[in-house]
Amino acid sequence: ASADRIATEESEPVTRQVKLGFSQLGSESDWRIANTNSIQEAAKEAGIELLLENAEQSQEKQIEAVRSFIEQGVDVIAIAPVVETGWEPVLREVQEAGIPLLILDRKMELADQSLYVTFIGSDFYEEGRMAGRYLLDKMRDRIGEIRIAELRGTEGASPSIDRGAGFREAIAERAELNIFASEPADFTQERGKEVMKSFLEEHGNEIDVLYAHNDDMALGAIEAVEEYGLKPGKDIIILSVDGTRQAFEMMVEGKINAVVECNPMLGPNVMQAVLELMDGRTLPKRIITPERIYTEVTAEREVANRKY
Ligand code: AHR
Repeated sequence: ASADRIATEESEPVTRQVKLGFSQLGSESDWRIANTNSIQEAAKEAGIELLLENAEQSQEKQIEAVRSFIEQGVDVIAIAPVVETGWEPVLREVQEAGIPLLILDRKMELADQSLYVTFIGSDFYEEGRMAGRYLLDKMRDRIGEIRIAELRGTEGASPSIDRGAGFREAIAERAELNIFASEPADFTQERGKEVMKSFLEEHGNEIDVLYAHNDDMALGAIEAVEEYGLKPGKDIIILSVDGTRQAFEMMVEGKINAVVECNPMLGPNVMQAVLELMDGRTLPKRIITPERIYTEVTAEREVANRKY
């Protein structure tokens, strides 16, 4: 199904493999690795030739990769953008080359919506809201100020911006919920641990809740909390986003209280979009991955089903 039929003037149509150039933003987290694997496996299964470039968190490298895909004459380009802004010039080059562009996982801030075909990925704002609504419910009987520390992801990345904003919108319902410390920790376990350590050194026992924008940072923070002599999940309520197997194991142990799912398995949707484009079909402008929240109460049932 993946072969593109090309009609030549005097001969029978020849078939060739469809070529997809994919600029992946990095390999910072378990989520990202699962996402890359999903794209690779789905491309193989669909018989699509995949040109994959890992940009290691650099927007310049992503732009270089996109230019090299144009030079190599790929049929479709997909980008998982590290940050939201600064994409219009290179996207114009893609458009001028007549190559359809898919945005994956993270949002781009674009004035001109004709620069891309579709955006496939999660609703990060809703993920933040789910975390906030969970906290409202969890703390419904607590009286007085509830002090929240936040570990944000990469600065300028849409999951950091939207998970922060959605969470704030949800908790605004109760003035006692107060985000008193918030720092970026790059979506990595190492930085999550370092930044949590510095929160604890500065604020000691005053942290009631930790909201981490992904599981890797939450896992790092748990190490810091334990080294400080507190019990994660009990002395400090811990919320995070993604849904890795390791985070589920932590929920079963009671060290994380809730995880909002963010699904990295975008490969099948992406390949379907590529094949439909090659078939001349029109795609919806937004393809959202359905997601939900898991808590310490439901984690045990689900842990064995986690795919990554
Ligand atoms: O863009 C998705 C986010 O990026 C995931 O939540 C995080 O783990 C990853 O690094």
